[in-house]
Amino acid sequence: MIRSVQAAHARGEASTPAGNGARATRRPRHDGTPAGPSAAPAGVPRRTLLGVAGAAGLTVGAAAGAGGHALAAEQPRALSTVGSASVPFHGRHQAGISSPLQAHGHLVAFDLVPGAGRDRAAALMRRWTSAAATMAEGRQPAEDNQIALDAGPSSLTVTFGFGASFFDRTGLRSQRPEALAPLPPFSADALDRQRSDGDLFVQVGADDALVAFHALRVLQKLAAGTAAVRWQMSGFNRTPGATAEPRTARNLMGQVDGTNNPRPSDADFDARVFVPASARPAWMANGSYVVVRRIRMLLDSWDQLSLAEQEKVIGRRKSDGAPLSGGTETTPVDLGGRRADGSLAIAGDAHVRVAAPESNGGAAMLRRPFSFHDGFDERGAPDAGLLFMAWQADPRRGFVPVQRKLDRGDGLSRFLRHEASALFAVPGGCAPGEYVGQRLLQG
Ligand code: HEM
Repeated sequence: MIRSVQAAHARGEASTPAGNGARATRRPRHDGTPAGPSAAPAGVPRRTLLGVAGAAGLTVGAAAGAGGHALAAEQPRALSTVGSASVPFHGRHQAGISSPLQAHGHLVAFDLVPGAGRDRAAALMRRWTSAAATMAEGRQPAEDNQIALDAGPSSLTVTFGFGASFFDRTGLRSQRPEALAPLPPFSADALDRQRSDGDLFVQVGADDALVAFHALRVLQKLAAGTAAVRWQMSGFNRTPGATAEPRTARNLMGQVDGTNNPRPSDADFDARVFVPASARPAWMANGSYVVVRRIRMLLDSWDQLSLAEQEKVIGRRKSDGAPLSGGTETTPVDLGGRRADGSLAIAGDAHVRVAAPESNGGAAMLRRPFSFHDGFDERGAPDAGLLFMAWQADPRRGFVPVQRKLDRGDGLSRFLRHEASALFAVPGGCAPGEYVGQRLLQG
């Protein structure tokens, strides 16, 4: 079934043939069987190994009894639905943009090491592309570390991008897109520059924590000598299967989040999210721009609001995400709707009003975030919030005008602190045999 990116964003369930041709495949669910330690040669599909582990007859569940063990010894066990799902790495667009949200994510920025220029950057992109494509198929890259040995691809996606500083370091300033101009400052910014920006960007997403860490570790090792980690942020979403049926995700404030995202079925979806093939510079054809913001939620203050107050701040019901102007979650928001007493159903400073395309000259973006929780601060408040990621064809017609508006008049801003920020140019996808960014680095 084709499900929208809104659902993908929101629901975090595998499903969506994306704009990049990404397709999550599912197999029938089986109980997970722990596999024993094993080693495997490079290139061996991990799912084969799971079958081998299953054939060793490890665990089959309490009800199976001795007969069940015998059966398990004879029949390799299939991967669970979650483990077997895969998202094609190759395509017109990179995976991880309009493909379904995953349960685990790592966002990492790298800086080129002193002396590493265009040639070494190109070699790194070639190594990274090859490893990412291999891992997305559930196979092991060369010199693997066995961390994900027993698991299937688990919807792994790896997405690469370039920051503005990359073009200075590699002598490619003439190829730097105008859309990559630094984001303007916003009054509510409390940015940590150490955790902002960066030459290279990698987004890793997977529905299994070990698969996600494995990919991150492989990519970090492949960068050795060429690029070093500048910052890393890790986040999560709801695990596929945690709800009885696919549902829109919730964020750490408890709101249904992702409902009114652009959908791939919208006529203007590609125009909003992806750079047109005719655009300049040519190497960005079919690419996208991603704004990354680490947004801390001031949860202790938020929790002091009543339910009605919280709903007024957003403009939607907390229980099911329905707009306060009436209807169900998917009913279009009626910004002009009024209550019996004549007051606006959606408050003047409600987040959905201030952020809506109608309030921002049509500006829109695809929100595809991960939640984060990095412990508690010295006052005992959670260091938690949203790794907000906005994907758009041009941030000057997406994130920037909307954030300007939110910065001035959004009721939600009182409960948020933007702590880190970055903008990256994410090239289009590549075909087998090519590497991501090849048109830039070899052009
Ligand atoms: C932690 C920070 C944020 C939280 C918790 C949050 C939460 C929400 C929620 C609950 C909705 C309503 C459901 C939906 O349509 O997805 C929403 C809508 C939206 N948000 Fe945010 N948001 C945050 C930050 C931002 C930022 C920084 C931007 C852009 C600069 C943004 C742009 C939007 C847009 C465009 C919509 C859809 C509005 C519409 O057309 O109805 N949000 N957000």
